[in-house]
Amino acid sequence: MESQVKIFSGTNSQYLAENIAKSYGSPLGKVEVRRFNDGEMCPVILESIRGDYVFLIQSTISPADNIFELLLLIDSARRASAEYITAVIPYFGYARQDRKDKPRVPIASKMIANLLVAAGANRIMTMDLHAPQIQGFFDIPVDHLESTTIFIPYIKSLDLHDLTFAAPDVGGVNRARQFAIHFNKEMVICDKYRKRPGEISSMTVIGDVTNRNVVICDDIIDTAGTLANAAKLIMEKGAKSVRALITHPVLSGKAYENIENSMLAEVVVCDTLPLKKTSPKIKILSVADLFATAIRNVHEHKSITSLFINN
Ligand code: R5P
Repeated sequence: MESQVKIFSGTNSQYLAENIAKSYGSPLGKVEVRRFNDGEMCPVILESIRGDYVFLIQSTISPADNIFELLLLIDSARRASAEYITAVIPYFGYARQDRKDKPRVPIASKMIANLLVAAGANRIMTMDLHAPQIQGFFDIPVDHLESTTIFIPYIKSLDLHDLTFAAPDVGGVNRARQFAIHFNKEMVICDKYRKRPGEISSMTVIGDVTNRNVVICDDIIDTAGTLANAAKLIMEKGAKSVRALITHPVLSGKAYENIENSMLAEVVVCDTLPLKKTSPKIKILSVADLFATAIRNVHEHKSITSLFINN
């Protein structure tokens, strides 16, 4: 019998996986997550996958159960004789710990990469890694999708004049530059300094935003502290409006409050993570069609670069 594409999901990414499977045109396979009394997890794939091309969808956001569920699913697929296993990780969590920048800290993203490969993943598909060089932590192929494919048409649809793109910190310069190059517009940089994770000690804007409609581009919105501070600063420097394009809506702590009380006109995010609630300022754009096309292209050995807008 010919090998088939079979798509399954971990618990946290179920909502997105259903849309990816629908867009791909095949039903989402069934997984039952059984638990022992103490909470120990045992995800069971409820159909034969012998000889099949299996795509397992799960974002690895904290808590660690999400990563662990994905690792167990990969192990189940390997032991069930799947031909080829792709871990589809729309949001690759723990990516912010990608270097040893202080003594005695882990490089968590490298450790997660090792675990995924050790469990039996043959390929990784993900989107907007915190730092693209994290791809190098894997010794298997990584298909790294870009949210510009989703965000650029949205910005075009707004038909805004006097656009300027902004990086909310120096780590985001390349991201903002991709937009600036595409639209042939200027970009500015917010210089952010943190003494500890989740707390901003100071921020300044490098560049002119007077009378501009500013679009801040970032990979993650967590507490929304970075974004709210950047938006305030940009408006104080004379911008006409400020909005944000953020790939991964982590949204922890007082994020919703910070967004609602901020000077941001809107925060546009992708559905790589489920949102806990709605907000009048948050607009969600789906990555389901993009991931479905990427799955098809991987399976048919077609180009992934063709899915990028700035290729
Ligand atoms: C950091 O380098 C990331 O790109 C984001 O800017 C950061 O994670 C956002 O965090 P928060 O929303 O808590 O300021």
